[in-house]
Amino acid sequence: MQDEIQYRRILVPRGRDTGRDFGETLMDAVAHAARIISSGGLVAFPTETVYGLGADAFNQGAVARIFAVKKRPRFDPLIVHIASMDQLDQVAADVPDVARRLIEAFWPGPLTVIVQKNRNISDLVTAGLPGVGVRMPGNQIARELIGAAKTPVSAPSANSFGSISPTCAEHVRADLGEMVDFIVDGGPCEVGVESTIVSCMDSPPVLLRPGGIALEDIERCIGEVRIPERNELKHAAPGRSSRHYAPRTPLVLVDTIRPPSPEKRTGLLTFRTSPIESAFARVETLSRSGDLSEAACNLFSALKRLDASGVDMIVATRVPDTGLGRAINDRLMRAAQTVIQ
Ligand code: TXA
Ligand code: MG
Repeated sequence: MQDEIQYRRILVPRGRDTGRDFGETLMDAVAHAARIISSGGLVAFPTETVYGLGADAFNQGAVARIFAVKKRPRFDPLIVHIASMDQLDQVAADVPDVARRLIEAFWPGPLTVIVQKNRNISDLVTAGLPGVGVRMPGNQIARELIGAAKTPVSAPSANSFGSISPTCAEHVRADLGEMVDFIVDGGPCEVGVESTIVSCMDSPPVLLRPGGIALEDIERCIGEVRIPERNELKHAAPGRSSRHYAPRTPLVLVDTIRPPSPEKRTGLLTFRTSPIESAFARVETLSRSGDLSEAACNLFSALKRLDASGVDMIVATRVPDTGLGRAINDRLMRAAQTVIQ
């Protein structure tokens, strides 16, 4: 593997395989993680969006364990990750022209397409839906792992259901710890928000989740994409429950920052700097220069730090609703208990 991959550490949850050092070479570690997947185990691994909790997509027992470890309801389908185009044929029955154009433009990368599933993919993976979500991650470690496991890998984000997605290996260890068999530490995720999901089963295609590829770029590639109403999404993408990505601390989403009440220790999650930020007990700034990609990359870590800081509430500001800003605002809406417009 190439030298540009700087993070060669592999985290082994306490109590498992502790006698061995997998940090010698990344290839050894990836090979070991791939053997765990091939033999029905669960491996947390880096992708460019967030860390995934992976299992052999064709092993029902292993896939069932993903749901158990995450405490995830069975009605919430899993994305299948692939490393090569032959693996697309192993999971999809039909790949329409729009999906092909998206794949050509954005894979490997943070885009999931929903296409007709084939018979090899169980109802457990798709939660009984006729389509399967497929993505080829941009992260090289992820692709090496899937390639070495020689099987498509079902992987949701590696966090317990409803909580904030992990953007570094330590987040996974803190949340799921010994419940996973192995954690491959690939360093912090470069994109920081989950993949954009486009259903190619309807015409025009439907945006099921804004994410790491901007809607503007998708539309430039395939033309108009329909944005569904919130209620409609409950059926099309069942995991899109309105409260998700949530910190334990109550979060209020605002357009304009006002001074906090003196009775409460209030944390601030701001896009750029704010002239009244000194009035807050703790401040996290997503991007001083106002760069939406940088803001997306910092979002989940900043939320986790605020949540752990002991403040009574978090005030977050919306970011401009363009490019990656759409994905950031979507996650903030879902994290919020109250939205003030
Ligand atoms: O960036 C990502 O997409 C990350 C990394 C690990 O790849 N994965 C991720 O998975 O965010 P997860 O499980 O946390 O969210 C996947 C969501 C589901 O909740 C569901 O809404 C939608 O994708 N989804 C998956 N398969 C689907 C299907 N067959 N039909 C409709 N929606 C689907
Ligand atoms: Mg998730």
